[in-house]
Amino acid sequence: MSTVAPLQDADEFWLFGYGSLIWKPPPHFDRRIPGFITGYVRRFWQASQDHRGTPEAPGRVVTLIEKSYWNQLKDHHDSAPERVWGVAYRIVPERVAEVKDYLDIREINGYTIHYTPFHPAAGVDPATLPTQVPISTLVYIGTPENDQFVGPEDPRRVVDVIFHSHGPSGPNPDYLFGLEKALDELSAESGDEHVTDLSNRLREMMAARRVPTPGPHPAPGPPQEHHFRRASSVDEQEETEKTS
Ligand code: BEZ
Repeated sequence: MSTVAPLQDADEFWLFGYGSLIWKPPPHFDRRIPGFITGYVRRFWQASQDHRGTPEAPGRVVTLIEKSYWNQLKDHHDSAPERVWGVAYRIVPERVAEVKDYLDIREINGYTIHYTPFHPAAGVDPATLPTQVPISTLVYIGTPENDQFVGPEDPRRVVDVIFHSHGPSGPNPDYLFGLEKALDELSAESGDEHVTDLSNRLREMMAARRVPTPGPHPAPGPPQEHHFRRASSVDEQEETEKTS
């Protein structure tokens, strides 16, 4: 893992999203590219006190675990895909400084900034990519040292916490189902069994309690121009209170 941004085309700044960023893009992007990173495992191991839960009742959101570290742990989900699928966003060059300022603010929520190579999915138009591929992307990771890192938990416990959690960004179940749907839409191979298993367990729990399954996505935002598929909303950021 590196915390130093490698050299890349001048003015190019790319951000990798593997959680809510997949369906809630950052401000001021002009390209959204599906693809993957390697060397990490995505897990619902980060407590959320400020978005999908509260300090009194934290929810659960995803973080990335370095694969070499994860290999040493005992995890109820004992396998993980080689690739962590998500999306890379290119920030428009004239807004890079502003977006970097905004991203520095986001860092305080337990996640820290790292850089990792991103591999575009097969079939992405090469004209939309920088000269150097893989692309160096900034990624947020809640590392094991951060206070909100939970670590391995029984999936029944994770789902129970998610079922009962709600924060300023909405119900925690919407986050889980939103992630499952967003991953399914990226590519034929972008499913993540950890996410799917938790989603299936949550659906079972909700059905048993006769709770309707919530829609996974917020209402679409206003139409915008993007080079790639438009994501659901740029208006409703995961951290709405910090963008205005
Ligand atoms: C993500 O989607 O990659 C993400 C969003 C918020 C915090 C950390 C990661």
